[in-house]
Parts: sequence; C-alpha cells; structure tokens
Amino acid sequence: MKVNWDIATAEKGGYDHFMMKEIHEQPKAIRDTLSGRVKDGVVDLSQEISLTKEQIKGIEKIHFVACGTAYHAGLVGKTVLEELARIPVECDVASEYRYRNPIITDKTLVVVVSQSGETADTLAALREAKKQGARVIAITNVVGSSVAREADDVIITWAGPEIAVASTKAYTSQLIAIYLLGLYLAQVRGPKTAEQLSEIVNHLMALSTQAEDVLKQEKQIAQFARSMAKNEHLFFLGRGLDYAVALEGSLKLKEISYIHSEAYAAGELKHGTLALIEEGIPVVALATQHAVYDKMVSNIQEVKARGAHVLGLATEGDSELRKTVDEVIHIPKTIDLLTPVLTVIPLQLFAYYACVERGYDVDKPRNLAKSVTVE
Ligand code: G6P
Repeated sequence: MKVNWDIATAEKGGYDHFMMKEIHEQPKAIRDTLSGRVKDGVVDLSQEISLTKEQIKGIEKIHFVACGTAYHAGLVGKTVLEELARIPVECDVASEYRYRNPIITDKTLVVVVSQSGETADTLAALREAKKQGARVIAITNVVGSSVAREADDVIITWAGPEIAVASTKAYTSQLIAIYLLGLYLAQVRGPKTAEQLSEIVNHLMALSTQAEDVLKQEKQIAQFARSMAKNEHLFFLGRGLDYAVALEGSLKLKEISYIHSEAYAAGELKHGTLALIEEGIPVVALATQHAVYDKMVSNIQEVKARGAHVLGLATEGDSELRKTVDEVIHIPKTIDLLTPVLTVIPLQLFAYYACVERGYDVDKPRNLAKSVTVE
C-alpha cells in the first residue's frame, strides 16, 4: 500500500499551508481565549491578574509594548483601553521603547504583547519597565515562555501553536485578550455602567461565530487578490481602528507576497500620499467606523478620482459604499470597538492569495523568522 502524505501534510489538516489552517482556526482561537473568563456578562480575570481594586484605580497610564503584529494589536489596544477604562495609553515598538528612556512610575501599567514570549526586544523592554517600577502584564501565546515567567501577571491567548511566520490567529487572540483586560479594568474604574459593559461583553461573545461568517467570503477575496497580485504597489486606508487594522493588513501583504504596501490614516492622504495614487493602483479601504464613515467615503472618492481600483470593507447593511468602490466585502455587524477582530480576516486572506498567485513560500517568507530572539 502506498501512503500519499507525510507528517507535515497531516499537520496542515487538509490545508495547503499552515497560514491557511491558522486563518481558519480563528473562530476557535477566539472562543478558547474567551473561555472561562466571562460569567453572566462580567469579565473575570482575577485568576490571572493579581492587581487589587485599589491598584487598578491607581493606574495613571498604560504602555503597550510589542513588535510586529503584536505591536499592531497594541495599537488597537490603545484605542480600546482609552475608550473603556479612560486611562491614557501609549503604544510603542519594543526596540524603540527600550532605548528611549520612557517615563515610567509605579503607577504605570506596562502590557507587553508577544505571541512567542521570546522576542528579544520585547523581553528587554519588559525588564526595563520592571526595573523602573512598573507593573507588567504579559499577553502571550506560550505558557512558560520568558515573557510569561518574568511578567507580574499573564493573560494567555489560547490560539494554540502558530507555525506560519505571518501571524494570524495569534493577532486575533491578542485582540480578545486586550478587550478582556479593558473590560476588566473598566468594571473597576468606570465610567461606563455595568449595563453598558455587559452589552460590549455580549458582542464580544458573538465574535467567533461572526468570524466564521467572514471566512465564508473567501472566494471573493481570493478573486480580488489574484487580480491585484501583479501590482508592485498597494495602499491600505482607514481611520481610527480601521487604520490600526490597515497597518496589520499591509504588514501581512508585504511579509509574504513581497508587494510594496503602505497603510495610511486616510486623513493624511492629502499631506503626501495622494501624489502616489495613479491609474490602476490597488487600494484597500476600510470603512467600518461609524464616527468617521463620511470622512472615509470622501477619502475613497479622492483616490477613485485619480484612477485607483478600490476594494472596500463595509459593515453588513451598508449599501452605500458599493457606489463608491469597485468591490466590497461586508463585515458582520458588531460595535465599532470590536470590528478589528473581523476586518483583519479578509486582509489575511488577501495577503495569502496574493502570495500564492505570485508563487512564493507562504509559510516561510524570505529573510523572516517566526521568533526573533536576537537583536
Ligand atoms: C517576528 C514574526 C512576526 C511577529 C514578531 C513579534 O517578526 O515574524 O510575525 O509579529 O516577530 O513576535 P512575538 O512572538 O513577540 O509576537
């Protein structure tokens, strides 16, 4: 008898690449990361976070510190924690933070985010923060990693092992951990009421099923990616949380497809980037944030007027965006604060299919490593 598979094929569970398998594991990763941490609409992290109510009330500022995709999760975290807990938040790349003499006190909460828990710069930043008296919480995917061992408290993301260099399910799980942390701090600090917070929790609990719905649009995203894959330049645009996700979408694309891409806060277009928009340039425009929706549509009109070919990301029920863009992907309805978990999925799929179309190695992109343990 001849067996036509090897161990690596079996590990990919029927998918061609680990990245695709991991993209599809996101609904489960989201569910697992929420599991056991929410009861009756209330977030309970008391098993993992040892801060007392008084200490939580005393936090004066929060620093997110991370690298790569984890840094992009921290950027979402900045908006989320400021919104939920009304504490000033900064987000830094670890290799900058560790060398720039940041202002840290014993009332500073430093949140390091690291899939592997072994990234050299993130670990060094954690040590520096602790040395200066900060309280450190680690959000990591690896129990027993260096970051997990050295932080004061740890929130584990239950994404399971991530093999592909381009991070996908770790990112969405990091976002879930960040929402949980934000809600946990907000429950103690206000100013949102318990009802308002529990409504957010309800939406949070719906995300894993909604992520499954996004994955059902894979074919359409694949088609757009294939048609765009010959381009050497591509832009991502967004405002607010859509901008944070645009940065992650752009990173995914360049990491594996080697297409030069950049993400811009759409309001910055007119300050320079617009000069680069010409006939046929692909643009991925995220328009899921209601407070800035009209502004975003005007930005899309500006690039369309210069000949850009635009894929728009809109919220379910939005029949307007279709009139402005060339193609549209709809994201299931949730609250604006939680959209990053859903909007990133089409962007991951987009990068994947662009890479496959260009014939590159999806799981092991050139020059990159899964875990960067040296400087
Ligand atoms: C490397 C990986 C990225 C990852 C970054 C941070 O560059 O290729 O996918 O986002 O390291 O890794 P960490 O394990 O700290 O999240």
